[in-house]
Amino acid sequence: MSKKNIDLAKKLLRRGELVIFPTETVYGLGGDATNDKAIKLIYKVKKRPKNNPLICHFSNLKEIEKYFYLSDIEKIIAKKFWPGPLTLILKKRENNKLSKYLSHNSNYVGCRIPKNKIARKLITINNNPIAAPSANLSQRTSITNIKDIDPVLSKKVFILKSTQSSYGLESTVIKINKRDNIEILRFGSISVEELNKISIITKVKVIKRSSLSPGNMSKHYSTKKPIRMNVKEVFDNEGLLNFGNIKLKSKIINLNLSKKGNLNEAAVNFYHYLHKLDKSKCKRIAVVNIPNDGLGKTINDRLKRAIK
Ligand code: TXA
Ligand code: MG
Repeated sequence: MSKKNIDLAKKLLRRGELVIFPTETVYGLGGDATNDKAIKLIYKVKKRPKNNPLICHFSNLKEIEKYFYLSDIEKIIAKKFWPGPLTLILKKRENNKLSKYLSHNSNYVGCRIPKNKIARKLITINNNPIAAPSANLSQRTSITNIKDIDPVLSKKVFILKSTQSSYGLESTVIKINKRDNIEILRFGSISVEELNKISIITKVKVIKRSSLSPGNMSKHYSTKKPIRMNVKEVFDNEGLLNFGNIKLKSKIINLNLSKKGNLNEAAVNFYHYLHKLDKSKCKRIAVVNIPNDGLGKTINDRLKRAIK
């Protein structure tokens, strides 16, 4: 990442403008989280409903503690999973300078410390947290490869370009409830199995409540073309999204998420391949059965929401 680009990004953020930047999950559409103008602009540019709160990105835990209360369990989870693809919903301290538009006036805000070096550098030089939803138009497919950026966004917003995201699925969004249980509000790059490992240390229980996140209530993550899941055959006008060694073929386009049948590799390829299928000549997208464990759960969740 050139110094010139980072300096320009810093200047834009200071002015309340937006910057598209890479993270280890998906690209983000970022604005200064303390600047009302920037936050309102994010909602406008993305055409996002105002009641769907934004995730706030920080460079380190000390910085988060300036703005939020963390319980002992939240601290354990923060130390175990940050920096990384986990978003923790935390309660704001009074009189902090975060924009109230971030989370629809709620006192609870989704926070994470990204692992990606460019993302961390950007937050550090901005000297304020950065609010960022995924860098796609509302309801559309996230991007993990800058080639897939929607021209509507790339025309309006400066981009810090990088390589393919290393995880490829959005962060897992969790909240610790009053009984110290982990509630999963959105499946993501940290699998339920990974979170369950923590339950051995902290005696927390994983509860799946994916409908709780406002962004998960409606149609989401949608491709332009209709998707069919768990296919056993491929029709003439369909492109194929395959996994493992399933012997199916499309006459138009064949993409395999992971020939080895590795779900982590599938996660990295997932959004880029959906964009490729969307841009190809096929009329519909046929997806084979993806095992529903590990990151397969997140992939299946996204596919189901894309179909709705
Ligand atoms: O990996 C990611 O999380 C990416 C990168 C850029 O960090 N960001 C992302 O943001 O996916 P977005 O806005 O596309 O999705 C955020 C999700 C939404 O489903 C939203 O409803 C939920 O997190 N969320 C955010 N703040 C929340 C809150 N305070 N309470 C409940 N759900 C929240
Ligand atoms: Mg999104």
